[in-house]
Amino acid sequence: MKRFTSLFLLILFVFVNAYAQRENVISDESKVPAYQVPDILTRFNGGKVKTEKVWVKKQRPEILKLFTQEVYGKIPGEQPISEVKVWETSENALNGIAIRKQLSLFFRKHDRNLEVNVLMYLPKTTKKVPVFLAYNFTGNHAIYNDPNIRLTESWVANNPSVGIINNQVTEQSRASASDRWPVDEIIKSGYGLVTVYYGDVDPDKNDFSDGIHPFFYSEGQQKPQINEWGSIGAWAWGLSRVLDYLEKDILVDATKVAVLGHSRLGKAALWAGATDPRFAMVISNESGCGGAALSKRIFGETVQIINTSFPHWFCDNFLKYNGNEEMLPVDQHMLLALIAPRPLYVASAEGDQWADPLGEFLSAKYASAVYELLELEGLPAKEMPAVNQPVMGTIGYHIRTGKHDLSLYDWQQYIRFADKHFK
Ligand code: GCU
Repeated sequence: MKRFTSLFLLILFVFVNAYAQRENVISDESKVPAYQVPDILTRFNGGKVKTEKVWVKKQRPEILKLFTQEVYGKIPGEQPISEVKVWETSENALNGIAIRKQLSLFFRKHDRNLEVNVLMYLPKTTKKVPVFLAYNFTGNHAIYNDPNIRLTESWVANNPSVGIINNQVTEQSRASASDRWPVDEIIKSGYGLVTVYYGDVDPDKNDFSDGIHPFFYSEGQQKPQINEWGSIGAWAWGLSRVLDYLEKDILVDATKVAVLGHSRLGKAALWAGATDPRFAMVISNESGCGGAALSKRIFGETVQIINTSFPHWFCDNFLKYNGNEEMLPVDQHMLLALIAPRPLYVASAEGDQWADPLGEFLSAKYASAVYELLELEGLPAKEMPAVNQPVMGTIGYHIRTGKHDLSLYDWQQYIRFADKHFK
């Protein structure tokens, strides 16, 4: 009975707490508390960053180290691809205008085996093509109406409305996310699309017994150490492994891979871009808290809220900053600056206040100082642009009308941005 009562009280506490947090969410600009973000060109020891050399050799490594240590966690070791198995290459996709390739990357260690399925659509041409590399949320079969795409056998969060039952997808799940993936437009614009189900690398649940994490455990270990990677770190790692493969694929120009992600996958894309300089372009679609949005600006989702709802996304060190953002030694504009000198695009949506559009814009604006130091254009806007008025320098930004989503409009801007920098 006693145990029952304490369990009941615990559940009650969790609910009341979650409710109270939602109630306290700031969504009114006049209620945002005063805050200060670190000046990106001031060294942690107080000096100023005045040259490219000091940025590259000193400031950038220090910032990267702090994000690794305090936010996303370090990768505990190396795990290269053990085997690539190409399931099919069809010259006849999209009514004959594209090549469809499906393959698996296998990772093996002791008795562990992880299979990451890759789906590629590439324009038919004699040249190597630039590609967008992006995770999808529910499996490769969901992105396009093509019965030849393999159905994922991985664990997927239940969603009976698209036929995901008992954490397994069904035929009904096909093309259920096709609104987010304008494959024909991408191909016709001369780009390939490479996509992977993010749960292949690490299923999105607070459970560290599956996915890539256990590959690095010592005897008896159950979860990563407090300064080691959570799920976002794992997803970013997975993007780099796909890039390892793309470097070997003769159809792809691996010097022109734009890594793109929506929402939590935008957070992963940014971290991948920050940690792996081989990504030639980085695109964050409404990545919000822990992504492009400033953490010290308290608006919409906060560090405490995200760490409570998704305790597996960041490293445990990040918990120190719950309700305590002012103590963070870095803020997200510094994450964006790690991507310099490579082109970076940050996008928000008017109907996605949870992700704090202004915080995303300011972050891109503050990151500009580093691009300018490197004699690049940075973000060509001092004030938040009007809705549906994209700006594109080496940093691009738009806020569009509509809800939290990855839309055709978003893709059209990313294609224009890629044309500007890749062609
Ligand atoms: C939640 C979460 C966000 C995240 C989003 C998503 O809303 O709070 O941080 O970006 O899910 O991934 O769709």
